[in-house]
Parts: sequence; C-alpha cells; structure tokens
Amino acid sequence: MPTAIDLAYVMYQAPDLDKMEAFMHDFGLLTAGRTDDVLFLRGGGTAPVVHVTYRGDSKFIGGALLMSGREDLDALAEMEGSGPVEAITDMPGGGWRVRMNHPDGLIIDAVWGQTPTQPVEHRPSNSFNWGDRKERLNRSLRPRREPGLALKLGHFVLKIRNHDQSVKWMKDRFNMLESDTMIVPEINKAVGTFIRFNLGDQPVDHHSILINEASEVGCHHCAFEMQDFDAVMGAHDYLVSRDHHLDIGVGRHLIGSQIFDYWRDPFGNRVEHYTDGDVNNADYEGKDYLLDDKGPTKSQWGMDPTPEFFR
Ligand SMILES: [Fe+2]
Repeated sequence: MPTAIDLAYVMYQAPDLDKMEAFMHDFGLLTAGRTDDVLFLRGGGTAPVVHVTYRGDSKFIGGALLMSGREDLDALAEMEGSGPVEAITDMPGGGWRVRMNHPDGLIIDAVWGQTPTQPVEHRPSNSFNWGDRKERLNRSLRPRREPGLALKLGHFVLKIRNHDQSVKWMKDRFNMLESDTMIVPEINKAVGTFIRFNLGDQPVDHHSILINEASEVGCHHCAFEMQDFDAVMGAHDYLVSRDHHLDIGVGRHLIGSQIFDYWRDPFGNRVEHYTDGDVNNADYEGKDYLLDDKGPTKSQWGMDPTPEFFR
C-alpha cells in the first residue's frame, strides 16, 4: 500500500502576494521562491517549500504529502481521480508528484524525490527548571519578542462534506492511521477524525491531518511547529505588536495536547503556531470523544475557542 511519511505543503490562492509574504515573514516563514504569480514559503527545516500561494481570488486549493518511495507514486497514479506521475518543475525542490482530485474538489498532491533544502540555523530548545527537576544551573533565559521560526508544517485540517468517505480516501491512498475521533452523541456519528502517519514503532505527530465534516469545503487551519513555549509566546507578542489578527490563543488543546496560538493571515485564513503536541507510534489506539458541553473542543487551559472557530 502507498505510504505517506510526512506532510509536504499546503496551497492557497490570494489576490495580493506581497501582503501574504509580509504577514508570513512576521509569522515565521521564509521566502523560498517568488514570481508575479506565485509565492513559495519554507520553514526552518529541510522541506524546500511548506506553503504555496498562487495569485487569484482568495481560496484554499489543497495540500500535499510526502511518500516513502517512487513506487508509491506509480501505485497512486492508477487510482481513481489521479493524474499521471509528473516531474515537479514549478516549485522549489523539484521531485515528482501525482496530483489527485479529492471527491470534494480539493487537490491533494503525493510527492517524492524533492531535494531537501539546508535547514535554517536556530537556537536549541530552552531548558526548563521543572518543579521536580532542574535543567538550568547558573544560567538565565532571555527569550525575545520576535517572529520566531516555524520549523515545519505540522498538520492541516480539511473541511469536507462526507467524513467517512474522506477518512477512507486518505487511508486508502496514504496508509494513515486513525488517532482520535469526535462523535456527535445525539446521532452517534463521527464528524471529525485525527489521522497520523504509519511509521511502525517510530513516533509521529498525533495528527498530521484532521478530517472534519462541514457544510463548506476548505481548510479550517494549517499549523506550524515552533521550537518551544518561549518561541510560541515570543512570536505571539511580536504578532500583537505588528497589529495582526489574533484568532484564539494561547491555550492547550485537549485532543493532541498542543499548546496552540491561532492567527488569521490577511485573507482570513487561520494559521496556527504550536508546540509540545502528543506523539504516537502505530501502537496507539485512538479514543472516541463525544462532542458535548464538556467536550473535546474546550481548551485544557488558556483561551477557549470562540463559536466562530467551529463555523
Ligand atoms: Fe491545529
């Protein structure tokens, strides 16, 4: 079965690439390439591109996953809704891809063979003097209010029309595993499933994609991992000082446990900084969470999502 091993990039359309680029530099991404019609952004890791914006009316186009081998692309090209295996000549990093049409009209690319880029040098994670264990002796912390550096694309959340169909679509193509599931108790129906990569014993993020049933197709948010809590908070204060639009944050999610901070880009797209999320291997058996008043959408601490967050 074709197996995805990581996320590659997300793709949007927006009418003003200068505005997107300026915001994303404040947010913690770097320009990897730019023409009049397309903006490629990278994070601090080895991925040559993590966020793509084409010039046009504002919308979400789709996302991309990295595959474990070239033979995965050959297998995917045979599946319903797939294009052929093609060389990537229009993005930094090159490689090959199969472009797939998701049943709800989103584009999902499967990518293999990109040339990794040089990681950006950044500070090591800050040590922490825990209540019962001290890591820092005779040393002080001096975190700064600064853009920070988004290290990698960690997950994206698809809003789709048919939850069960989309979860199956992703599992069939990418060999992904179900982490936790959100259930509407009145009708005992699953409406949201967090899915992760299947790398056997190796730990992976609790979710790299969340499939959410919704009336409108699109992307609820895409999320980028930051080095540590200081990086999230330093970036938070910096984004406030730059008058950007805070969505919700800072808080700690229940499902996945991330410390989160959500912002809106200039076109209203929700983008998240996070740190300290759960990691799981293939042994993890997911849980069902009932979407009731005390349910999983409340934060464990910090700011709770507003009603708008669920629209
Ligand atoms: Fe998230």
